[in-house]
Amino acid sequence: MLKKILLGLAAALLILQFFQIDKTNPEYDATQDFMNMYPPSEEVAQILKVACYDCHSYETKYPWYTYTQPFGWWIDDHIDHGRSELNFSEFGTYSPRRADHKLEEGIEYTETEEMPLPSYTWGHSEARLTWEQRELLINWFAELRPIVYPDSLKNADS
Ligand code: HEC
Repeated sequence: MLKKILLGLAAALLILQFFQIDKTNPEYDATQDFMNMYPPSEEVAQILKVACYDCHSYETKYPWYTYTQPFGWWIDDHIDHGRSELNFSEFGTYSPRRADHKLEEGIEYTETEEMPLPSYTWGHSEARLTWEQRELLINWFAELRPIVYPDSLKNADS
């Protein structure tokens, strides 16, 4: 009986492997990319690349375990959701107000350690940011806020 159940499970798991996620990155206009529009220091660029861009851009790198289901689906969902909330590859298409708001959220999420997602740093040790790295990123976002949306500081007063 148990043997049959285990065999059944193994067969089901095997079948799942045929349903692979789409690992092609969509085409996009690189001139609208956050880092191309506002070139950061090399250190900040590195932080964004290793800790944020896999879920918040069209430059996603898919590790080997995204080929194994159901992990692949779970990760794909994070990428879809992450991009829909904030896509650095399309940053230039955001209205000034929206861009400013995303930076504000970026500061908050980096400060509270909600980002990068803790589940992401299990498999990506390079994305476990030190406080020094978090501060660099936060300062960069803060510096850009009045540049992307000059009214942002005015609104803060009123
Ligand atoms: C493993 C994928 C993943 C990584 C890596 C990641 N994020 Fe996210 N991010 C998400 C998902 C999923 C959401 C939407 C769910 C939520 O808000 O928790 C999100 C939401 C956000 C939001 C909220 C946007 C809004 O308007 O509500 C911000 C800001 C953000 N992430 C910034 C970052 C920054 C900055 C980094 C790098 C330091 C980062 N994220 C790394 C997946 C990721």
